[in-house]
Amino acid sequence: MATPLMRLLLAACPLLLVTADPIRKVSTNGTLPLVMWHGMGDSCCNPLSMGAIKKMIEDDVPGIYVLSLRIGNNIDTSNSFFMDVNQQVTQVCAQLAQDPQLKGGYNAMGFSQGGQFLRAVAQRCPSPPMKNLISVGGQHQGVYGLPRCPGESSVICNWIRKALNTEAYSDLVQKHLVQAQYWHDPLKDDLYKKHSVFLADINQERVVNETYKKNLQLLEKFVMVKFLNDTVVDPRVTEWFGFLKTGQSKETETLQESLLYTEDRLGLAAMEKAGKLVFLASDGNHLQFTEKWFNDNLLPYIR
Ligand SMILES: *[C@@H]1O[C@H](CO)[C@@H](O)[C@H](O)[C@H]1NC(C)=O
Ligand SMILES: *[C@@H]1O[C@H](CO)[C@@H](O)[C@H](O)[C@H]1NC(C)=O
Ligand SMILES: *[C@@H]1O[C@H](CO)[C@@H](O)[C@H](O)[C@H]1NC(C)=O
Repeated sequence: MATPLMRLLLAACPLLLVTADPIRKVSTNGTLPLVMWHGMGDSCCNPLSMGAIKKMIEDDVPGIYVLSLRIGNNIDTSNSFFMDVNQQVTQVCAQLAQDPQLKGGYNAMGFSQGGQFLRAVAQRCPSPPMKNLISVGGQHQGVYGLPRCPGESSVICNWIRKALNTEAYSDLVQKHLVQAQYWHDPLKDDLYKKHSVFLADINQERVVNETYKKNLQLLEKFVMVKFLNDTVVDPRVTEWFGFLKTGQSKETETLQESLLYTEDRLGLAAMEKAGKLVFLASDGNHLQFTEKWFNDNLLPYIR
């Protein structure tokens, strides 16, 4: 059932995979647990990524319970590649609700697309309560460019972008391709609003869901990390909830300039007023940070 577009994306974007193995640690002694949702194609057990971060956190915060989410029931990567994000969120919500160690609440840290997926968890599933949401390179207004493509001028990137431009909002692609579900085409704003099954919903593009607005504001802090030299995420400002201005694809706007904020459709303006939004920047490319940077900047939010 894979279309040529999907096959091409599979080949070009191994980072889109969402399957991982669970990491569990026995009971904590007072520190709030941490739930992590890894990025595209990563896995919780990869000793070079989630595994290393988990170990680092456990060393720095003795006794902490770290749950690195596994999505889906097996490690069949192509299966999870095509898994509906809304289903993933539902499954994660159920998993969190059933975990006795999370009953008292938890902090959440999402890497790359895991950032916006955990925000959906905060908006849809207030129990157990999420305290701080830390988005590390998440794409809160989606992407209009292909992850891992080296740049605007590359022929192959342009070709794939063109293909996504024509197919991204079709029902089939929306339903089965993870990235299409946060594909945000500023030139096709009406199609995006109407057909984006995931991002347009959590960003209140069709209706203002008061439940989402209320739940998000239950967070103590919503921390967003942007990578200043990110060549994976396009546009970079989406990591701070900004995006391209509607109707063109060059000029960007900040969160504060967007309708989402000025009309406060999601409660973000209220959250900023209450000191709940934290915008952090890190030098370097996508998800590239030093242990010192992590400890200095992110650890304070998970202790
Ligand atoms: C949890 O226990 C460890 C030792 O097992 C201790 O070092 C740490 O300080 C404790 N943390 C809290 C928050 O009590
Ligand atoms: C708002 O979100 C809640 C929680 O996900 C959902 O149950 C409800 O159906 C949504 N309402 C609308 C109008 O979309
Ligand atoms: C970021 O990019 C700029 C310009 O391309 C470069 O001069 C700088 O060294 C890069 N910094 C890092 C940390 O990669």
